[in-house]
Amino acid sequence: MTFDSFLPLTDDQRSVRDLAREFGASDITPHAERWDREALFERSLVEKLGALGFLGMLIPEEYDGLGLDTVTYLLALEEIAAADASAAVLMSVHNSLPTQMILRWGSDEQKERFLRPMARGEKLGAFALSEPDSGSDAASLSTQARRDGDDWVLTGTKAWVTSGTHADVIVAMARTDTADDRKGARGIGAFIITPDLPGFHVGKKEDKMGLRSSPTVQLVFDELRVPAANLLGDVGSGFIYAMQSLDHGRLGIAAQACGIARAALAHSLSYAEGRTQFGRPIKDHQAIQFKLADMASRVAAARAMLYGSAAAKDRGERITMYGSMSKLLASETAMWVTTQAVQIFGGYGYVKDYPVERLFRDAKVTEIYEGTSEIQRIVIARELYATQ
Ligand code: CAA
Repeated sequence: MTFDSFLPLTDDQRSVRDLAREFGASDITPHAERWDREALFERSLVEKLGALGFLGMLIPEEYDGLGLDTVTYLLALEEIAAADASAAVLMSVHNSLPTQMILRWGSDEQKERFLRPMARGEKLGAFALSEPDSGSDAASLSTQARRDGDDWVLTGTKAWVTSGTHADVIVAMARTDTADDRKGARGIGAFIITPDLPGFHVGKKEDKMGLRSSPTVQLVFDELRVPAANLLGDVGSGFIYAMQSLDHGRLGIAAQACGIARAALAHSLSYAEGRTQFGRPIKDHQAIQFKLADMASRVAAARAMLYGSAAAKDRGERITMYGSMSKLLASETAMWVTTQAVQIFGGYGYVKDYPVERLFRDAKVTEIYEGTSEIQRIVIARELYATQ
């Protein structure tokens, strides 16, 4: 069940999507249940995704990436998510956030040092914006950066960092204004951090409901010394860079949510064919047919929104509103569709014998990270007035 026939895809887009689908089926799906059960982050997966070029999809060929368009990238990401949502989030964060930030605002030296190996998948990227006391209100972050000679010295704790245990390059936001001269969102810088820098510590690892094989951690910066050359772009523009990158990142999470929803629908269709109650397959009961029809319709709508937004981005349009709409629609679709899937499976949906239980748990976070559904609604409502 792919619903691709109504998307105007090129042959190249179809072949990248097919490659991702085949890789998901051969190298991810067979392990997804165990990775989830053991909360196991499989580093070899990063190497394999890198070898396929999937960690440099949006990076130009001059920096060793594939230089593909957003639609192609999201098609591949959706396929990986349909195989395993945890694998998809590492791919989404890496491709959408730190690499895009370095590509857009990095110096030539930063691109050579960090972007090139990230494009090849030799270095994994992470993004550190949130803190224990700063989530939806991202501009209230308190990690402080103080200039000291040729270095910046960072002190504070970042939270909810995807791939934080294994990341080689982290783009972290910290305050560059001072206590006496607070500048709000304009007093935040973006820094390229590597785990070898003195004062870098991996803190608490979260014990999550879903995405269990994607490690989410706190990062503790204890007088972390960062060379001034690792500041990204302008000193007070880190928050703006983060917001612009999240416009793009939210499309990645929408693709992840579409992959989860599509997988839940596919499992439901096949279960409803094989499961007999009251003398016939449950797919022949109208109660189940209505569910399957609604699930399929919502998945198709979420995908149409996503790929329409991606095409707008590829045409160079501003997609702040469409990125938020795509994420809102896709994540709420994933939660709704996986809830219906569990219901169709009945008791078997509530236990770990079938994948829909994991899909249901994995779906939830898509309504939370990279901006909750409530934040997406705020962004959409603001944009409605701004674009009038
Ligand atoms: N593009 C460009 N600029 C933007 C922008 C965008 N999308 N959004 C905001 N800005 C600019 C504004 O224009 C403003 O600039 P000026 O100073 O020139 O006026 C500045 O940023 C401040 O903007 P706001 O006044 O709108 O800021 P705010 O404090 O009201 O917050 C918000 C806006 C949309 C609520 C924002 O805080 C937000 O998106 N919060 C959610 C944070 C989030 O998504 N966190 C996810 C973290 S990543 C993650 O989940 C982990 C992971 O690894 C997956």
